[in-house]
This record gives sequence, C-alpha cells and structure tokens, in this order.
Amino acid sequence: MRRPPVQSTAMPYYLTTPIYYVNSTPHIGHAYTTIAADVLVRHQRQRGEETFFLTGVDEHASKVARVAAEQGLQPKEYADRIVEVWRELPRRLDATNDFFIRTTDDGHKRFVQEFLERIRANGDVYQDVYAGLYCVGCEAFKTESELVDGKCPEHGIEPEWIEERNWFFRLSAYQEPLLGLYDARPDFVLPAFRYNEARSFIAGGLQDFSISRAGQPWGVPIPWDPDQVAYVWADALVNYLSALSYARPGEDLRERFWPGVRHLLGKDILRFHCVYWPAMLLAAGYEVPRQLFVHGYLLLDDRKISKTLGNVLDPLDLIDVYGADAVRFWSIRAVSFGQDGSASVEGLRERYERELANELGNLLSRTTAMIARYRGGAVTACPSPGSAVASLLAGLAGDVADRLDRYDLTGALERIWEVVRGLNRHVEAQAPWQLAKDEARAAELDRTLYDLADGLRAVAVALAAFVPSTSARILAALGADPADLRWEGVAYGRSDDLTGIAPAPPLFPRIDAPTAAA
Ligand code: MSP
Repeated sequence: MRRPPVQSTAMPYYLTTPIYYVNSTPHIGHAYTTIAADVLVRHQRQRGEETFFLTGVDEHASKVARVAAEQGLQPKEYADRIVEVWRELPRRLDATNDFFIRTTDDGHKRFVQEFLERIRANGDVYQDVYAGLYCVGCEAFKTESELVDGKCPEHGIEPEWIEERNWFFRLSAYQEPLLGLYDARPDFVLPAFRYNEARSFIAGGLQDFSISRAGQPWGVPIPWDPDQVAYVWADALVNYLSALSYARPGEDLRERFWPGVRHLLGKDILRFHCVYWPAMLLAAGYEVPRQLFVHGYLLLDDRKISKTLGNVLDPLDLIDVYGADAVRFWSIRAVSFGQDGSASVEGLRERYERELANELGNLLSRTTAMIARYRGGAVTACPSPGSAVASLLAGLAGDVADRLDRYDLTGALERIWEVVRGLNRHVEAQAPWQLAKDEARAAELDRTLYDLADGLRAVAVALAAFVPSTSARILAALGADPADLRWEGVAYGRSDDLTGIAPAPPLFPRIDAPTAAA
C-alpha cells in the first residue's frame, strides 16, 4: 500500500470531462459538462497558463454491446459509426479540446493493461466470486438498500442478477489512505457538500469491487487472464492518464500534466471519481488528481435529462437554431453551476432575446452607430480614470478570475453581466444623442463614446471564454484585435484610437422559428 503523496505545485492546467457512453447520441446534459470545461480552459489560456483539455467517449460498456446487437452490428462497428456524432459535439459547441479519447484506441487499451498489472503487482488484486444485482444503466453493482421498489432510482430499471468469478480490487485497504488524503486536502473535492458526501462514504467503510467481467468479450482483456475483460469503470477512469501517454506521438505529456489534473463530473459519478479512482491511482503508484469538481444535474421539468427517461434535448438541434454561443450562455446562466436546476427551451429563447440580443447586442449596435454617425467612425483615445465606466470596470478582472478559480461559472458570468447592464445605464444617463446637439459638449461626447467602446471591449475580453465567437465579433466591430484575449485587457482605458468604426450588424438576429428546437 502506498501513502498519499504530497501535492505538487505550479503545474499547468489540465482539465477533463467524463468520457461519455456511446449507447446513444449526445443530449444537453452531456453538452453541459463539455461547455463548462471549455469555459474554464479558455479562461486559463487567457491568463497565460499552459493548458490541456481532454474529452472523449467510453465505449466498452455492456449497454453499448447491447445496442449494437439490437442493430445487428459488432460493438466496434457500431461505435465507429456513432463516435462521429460524439466528435461533432465539442466541435459544434466550439469547445477547444486538445484531444478526443476513445477507449477503443490501442494506446488506451495498452495503458489500461499496464495500469491493472501495476495494481496487481502491488498486491491489490485477488480472485473471488461475485454475486449481486447489476444495473446496466449505471454499469455498477447495487445493494438492496440502494434500490427503490426493486428498481435503480437513477434509471428506473430493475437490476439484473449476476454471479461470476472475477478479479477484485482491494479498495478496503485504501480507506485510511483516502481519509488521510481528504483530511490533508480539504479542497480535493468541491463543492464542500460533495467533499463531505465523498468523505462520509469512505468513512462508512469501503468494499472491494470487481474490476473484471467474465463471459462478455467486449472490453480490454485482463492481461493475466484473457478470458475476462476489464470492468468498464476500471477501463474508463484510466483514460485521464492514458490519454497523456499517446495524445502527442513521441511525447509523454504525463510529465507536464500529471498530477495537475482537474476532473469535472456530474454528481451521478461521484463515487467512481472521488473514491475508486484515487484509490486505484495510489495502488498503481501514481499521484492523485489535483482536484475534482462535481456539478449538479440540468433538469427538464425537474427530472434529470436522460435517454432512459426519454426527455432528451438534442444540443445539436439547439445550436442549429440559436448558435453555440447562445447555448453556452444559457446553460451556464440558467442553473447555478454546482447545483441542480431546471432549464427549458423557453428559457433559452428568453435569454437570447432579452440578454444577448437586447442588453449586449443593442449596446454594440448603438455604440458603433453613434461613433459612425457623430464622429465619422473615429474617436481619439481619451481615457479618464475617474469616469463612471472606469469604476464599472474596476475589480472586474479579479472578481471573474476568483469566481472561475472556484468553479463558480454562473457567478463569474453574472459579474460580467452587471457591467453590461451598467454600460446600458451609462448610455441612458449620458444620452449621447443630446450631447451631439451641443457643440460646447463635444469633448464630453468624445469621452462618452470612447468609454462605451472601451467598456464593451473589456467586456468582450471577459466574455471570450463564455461566448467566444460573439466576443470576437464585438472586438472586430470596435477595431480591436479579436485574437488578443489576454486577461490584462479586462481593464479600463486599454483601447487605442478608434478608427473606421461602422455600425455593427445585430449580434443576435431575431429568430423567426423560435420553437423549432422545442
Ligand atoms: N461513461 C461514464 C463516465 C466515465 S468517466 C471516466 C458516464 N457516461 S455518461 O454518458 O452517462 O455521462 C455522464 C456525465 O454526463 C455526467 O457525469 C455529467 O457530467 C453529464 N451529464 C449527463 N446527464 C446530465 C444532466 N442531466 N445534467 C448535467 N450533466 C449530466 O457516466
């Protein structure tokens, strides 16, 4: 048994999403984690950090083999087809993942075998017979006490009786090391209530679990017993490490990015990530992750969105109608990140019109139109440190960064939006259309127009992680460099002379078929 190692510092920022099961196509719940991860990674890049962003798919599940059989296909054949839809997901969401892992990649399979061998060499693997109830939805064994009316509460299906000789991982031996780890690192799991949930689960006693499956060929063969395959979770969790070993041919990214990894995941898979995974890493002689953040569910009509429950919302349909930025914006704003909350297509439409089109889009249209109309598209840089816009922007960069460091994506976006609303109030208060009538107030008009443009520029840089293409369009419309997203730009008075500013077309045009995705 190995002791939990001391946490390393000054590591680059490596962030992962769970790898998604390919037994069906993506729904908005999957898009949710990918969007959140992309926001965090883009933000770190703006701060000049070196980053690595991993997402991908989990293919060796029994439910994948079942769906394939239903379609008369071999599991791999089925997976090769459906994986294209899953690759589309990050692309269409405008997510900037550095690698897309498939658990059927040779590099991954080899790594899993080596990883399991290391656990075995450490004396933590033994053979035993397992008999119990298995929920194929969770891909996990269930105890009677976890069932409601004999069914899995998560999936609403009856688990199946399974009895087979398997290889077991001695999880029970890791209770003390895990408790030590949790005590030493109170921010190992966030939010705090999830940390408590994971810690109490560990404190309640840990049972060894089976890391292999007999009698099903779909999976990574157990190296010392090729009649069995790795249990899907013992295979899937390892992706976070395996990817680093082959994502860049000829390079071993583990040196740079492990253990500086942060895992984002939904609350449904807390135990696997917060208990099983660190124990497996310790057993295999690896350092445990830097941090895990567990978010809540996005609910539709107060029920979890899932294929099994039949209330799926196809994110690609929503993107077709509203665009990636609006879907990103809405999913972060609709529900406080970390909590459960309800979202709806009506909510998306409403935010699109009120917040994106009116509050942000009109602000840009008005600002650029006034600069074009009153100043022929040009205003000399004239920052005035005591101005209302200067105080609106004061503290913004620090506040947003602090919130994102705490995974408070919703709070960070709201903090930026306070400034958007403040800029709108500033337009009304200054009434540039009145100033323009009075030649004696020409300097005041210049300052007002410069401040509005500069405020919008700073907001666009702050928003870049959330709504990347909108941000780029705002910057371009203001004559700023859309590629310069350095976080220092989230400050007052950084705009140069404004030249060649023309009235910007609407950022968020009216959508005539607003219910198309409903
Ligand atoms: N394959 C496993 C994960 C293995 S990770 C080593 C799995 N896959 S899954 O396809 O079921 O996706 C689970 C993840 O998708 C959740 O943890 C969460 O990140 C996201 N979500 C799926 N439905 C969701 C909601 N309704 N709301 C928010 N996120 C949800 O479990």
